[in-house]
Amino acid sequence: MALITLIYVSSAVRSVSYSDIQDILRQSREANGKKGITGLLLFQDGNFMQVLEGNAEFVDELHQKISNDPRHGGIITLFREPILTRSFSDWKMGFKDIGDLTEDEKAGRSDYLELPLNDALYISNPNEAFILLQAFRNTVR
Ligand SMILES: Cc1cc2nc3c(=O)[nH]c(=O)nc-3n(C[C@H](O)[C@H](O)[C@H](O)COP(=O)(O)O)c2cc1C
Repeated sequence: MALITLIYVSSAVRSVSYSDIQDILRQSREANGKKGITGLLLFQDGNFMQVLEGNAEFVDELHQKISNDPRHGGIITLFREPILTRSFSDWKMGFKDIGDLTEDEKAGRSDYLELPLNDALYISNPNEAFILLQAFRNTVR
């Protein structure tokens, strides 16, 4: 079955807390494992960027559910492309709060980290979003 990757950005509603995000992750990891969906969720100052990878039908179905989720809004799909291999195969859903990095973690990434996750740069040049997500691939827990 055809594999795709999909990247979107969004903004959390004001009332979303860190523990709400932990709930989303717990739920996501269980559900994604069952559907063979992998990816990474970044959070920074109220904005999300998420990459989803997996079977096209399952990814599109999940993307639809996520788009209707009242915990965030302003969803912009940056990227939806067929892939041959996964880039985030280790993660049923990795998570990184990049608003909270140590100076060491920021090293060499300062250009990107000045920008909000839903910045026009990522919308006009989605490949930059992919590069950002990949930069954090090996740092997530
Ligand atoms: C930013 C964000 C990311 C999410 N990521 C996922 C995910 O990767 N997998 C998942 O199953 N649900 C994810 N969700 C939750 C879905 O929107 C939805 O609540 C969940 O799939 C449960 O749907 P159901 O009640 O129809 O089973 C996410 C929600 C938000 C706000």
